[in-house]
Order: sequence, then C-alpha cells, then structure tokens
Amino acid sequence: MSAHRNSGAQAAKVFNFKLVLLGESAVGKSSLVVRFVKDQFDDYRESTIGAAFFTQVVPVDDSTSVKFEIWDTAGQERYKSLAPMYYRNAQCAVVVYDITQSASFEKAKTWVKELQRQADPDIVIALVGNKNDLASRRAVTAEECQTYADETGLLFQETSAKTGANVGDLFKAIAKKMPLDSQKQNQRTGRNSSSGPTRPTVDLSGSEAASTGNCAC
Ligand code: GTP
Ligand code: MG
Repeated sequence: MSAHRNSGAQAAKVFNFKLVLLGESAVGKSSLVVRFVKDQFDDYRESTIGAAFFTQVVPVDDSTSVKFEIWDTAGQERYKSLAPMYYRNAQCAVVVYDITQSASFEKAKTWVKELQRQADPDIVIALVGNKNDLASRRAVTAEECQTYADETGLLFQETSAKTGANVGDLFKAIAKKMPLDSQKQNQRTGRNSSSGPTRPTVDLSGSEAASTGNCAC
C-alpha cells in the first residue's frame, strides 16, 4: 500500500499491507490475531460476527517495518459471502485450520483455491495449522500440510494461539515475503484503492475490534 518515514530518532520506513484471515469457524483466527496484537489468549472467545479489524507493526530490519492492517473474518458459513470483500484487495492472507480437525484442513484448501482464483495474483498466502498445543489430539500431520504448501507455493507454519508458539515467527515470515520496494508499493496502491472495505475512521490500533464494535461490513 504505502510507505512513509517516521520522525524521531528511529527513522524507519513503514510499509502498510492488508492481511485477511480466513478459515473455518473455531480454528482460532481471532485467537491468533489477539495473541499477535495483544499477546493475550482467552479460553472462551465469542465467534466473530462479520469481521474485526486490527493493526500491528512488525520490524523487518533496523530501517524497515511492516504494518499489517488485519481483517479477521467470521468463519461461520452464514458469513461466507462477505469474504470476497475482505480478500479482494488484500496483499496477504492467513488461511487457518485446526490440527485436531481434518475437515478444517479440507476447508483451508478450498480457501486457498478460492484465493488463487479470485484474489490478487501476487497475494502472499500462509497456511497455518493452529492449536498445536493439542498434539495428543492431532488429526492432520505437519508433513502432509508442508507437502501441500510446497506444491501450492504457500508459507506454512504450525502455531498455538494458546501458548504463543510460532505466532510472532509466522507474521515475521509473512512480513519478509512482502515486496518492500516503494515503487511497487505505489503501483499496488493504484491498483487496489478502489475496492474492498476501507480502514475504519476510528483507529483500532492494537485493540480488539470486538470490544469496540465489530465491523460487519
Ligand atoms: P470464528 O470467529 O467463529 O470464525 O472462530 P475463530 O476461528 O476466530 O476461533 P476463535 O479464535 O474464536 O477460537 C475458537 C476456540 O478455540 C476458542 O475457545 C479458543 O479459546 C480456542 N483456541 C484458539 N486457539 C487455540 C489454540 O491454539 N489452542 C487451544 N487449545 N485452543 C485454542
Ligand atoms: Mg473469530
């Protein structure tokens, strides 16, 4: 999207990218983003209504950071028709499944296919097997998913929003895959600026959108 230099001692380029989270209900999309943004976890989290918006900055190196503008979509089937609004102008997508639910991996694969057919052709996609703290109930092997990710050109990571395992690494790996080149960024802004949900006027930086009103837009 856009890059600007912060004022102050730590002058750094900050590149903004829209990121969408997709996946079946209850796989832990909201839990992952709350772990990433607030470093918190709730054993009882309400299912997302519509979508929720978050932002978080990831330093890539001493002089460059990525600011993710995150749309956490609702996984319940009744919200499925809203998803294209969120992925249409996204530069990165995190497709989540639950390692204890093989049906959720099948669903993740259908999201990947839909993204590859209908989203930006340059979209960076990460496949994420969440709840890897529940290893004793594992139904999907990491090897199977790594093979699928390699064949399909996806990043792959297993995470636990509960313990925090690999959550920071996941977003750092995505940040490193993004095109951090201002000329490309400007081109992207031109191509993507006309469609999809825009940022809310209320800045929800670092806070959980659900607590300030979900945006079912
Ligand atoms: P929707 O909003 O309905 O699409 O669901 P979601 O994908 O956002 O799932 P959510 O984050 O609401 O998590 C669903 C349930 O799984 C909650 O009870 C979480 O506490 C639990 N959960 C999420 N991540 C983990 C994890 O890594 N490990 C374990 N053990 N539980 C998790
Ligand atoms: Mg949710």
